[in-house]
Amino acid sequence: KRPVGAPDKGLARPVTKVGVVGAGLMASQLALLFVRRLRVPVVLTDIDQARVDKGVGYVHAEIDKLLGKGRVSPDEANRLKALVSGSLDKAAFADADFVIEAVFEEMSVKQQVFAEVEEHVSAECVLATNTSSLSVTEMASKLRHPERVVGFHFFNPVAVLPLLEIVRGEQTDDAALATAFAVGKQLKKSCVLVKDAPAFVVNRLLTRFLGEVIASVDEGTPFEVADKALEPLGLPMSPMVLLQLVGPAVALHVAETMHGAFPDRFGVSENMKRFVAAGKTAVWTWDEQGNQKVDPEVAELWQ
Ligand code: 3HC
Repeated sequence: KRPVGAPDKGLARPVTKVGVVGAGLMASQLALLFVRRLRVPVVLTDIDQARVDKGVGYVHAEIDKLLGKGRVSPDEANRLKALVSGSLDKAAFADADFVIEAVFEEMSVKQQVFAEVEEHVSAECVLATNTSSLSVTEMASKLRHPERVVGFHFFNPVAVLPLLEIVRGEQTDDAALATAFAVGKQLKKSCVLVKDAPAFVVNRLLTRFLGEVIASVDEGTPFEVADKALEPLGLPMSPMVLLQLVGPAVALHVAETMHGAFPDRFGVSENMKRFVAAGKTAVWTWDEQGNQKVDPEVAELWQ
């Protein structure tokens, strides 16, 4: 059954090679998913060789884990590994049909990335963005072919969480959108078409949820209480562990986007700003015995 609002499947173009811009946490998980499900060449690029090597290394290591769990055969593991490569040069995307970016969550950076990619790919190549909150329409606006840009928003951990938000920008055409849905289906994701609105649907709720938990800590509720109090809701992980998974810098960025769009409904915690500025990535630490405690430096930031 076609998701509500998705264009005719017949318009989808085949995807025989994929480009991934970025080799960080989300990008390398995406490279793994694409190679595993589409079984086509996947090329990763980033700004330096160390990052590219780390990204390709992650994909290879995850394929080895799948082999260890018996999910792929030794032959299949070798085939998948051979399909993944890294490059510093976006010219490596020349014959790609689908390029996805998962770089720093900043409009100007993402626009620049797409402008560079457009120099190397055909006019039909779909350009997908894994942005968490930014406007797909604005991201596409400076391109020669804005009609090929779609939002393709995954959730961390990418291999496990089934949802994929597909975003239609104002100029996105039916062929690009149909290709995005066909790819999403091949990736075995549960695709929903969402409006190009700040933070789409899921992060709007997530930002509100995490924002209220952080606000209660700002008002003096200890982290231990905030996390514990929500346990009976049966969440898969506590709010502050989820914050760590999302990445506090990303969560802050989305909160700022939402505050800009809906200032009366979304606030930005000053303590969160200091937490991110201090380069902290987690509230909780675990000692060697596995005991969980609030990182004392973080507790101090919230004084
Ligand atoms: N990366 C890859 N795979 C992972 C993983 C990770 N970080 N964490 C867990 N997994 C895999 C495990 O390997 C295991 O796979 P297997 O069945 O093949 O062995 C499977 O997930 C289940 O893992 P566990 O049994 O160890 O753990 P849980 O049952 O506790 O599940 C979880 C772990 C799936 C991470 C679960 O805690 C969960 O769903 N948490 C909520 C995550 C969430 O809400 N993410 C959304 C964040 S928002 C976002 O990403 C959007 C962005 O724009 C901000």
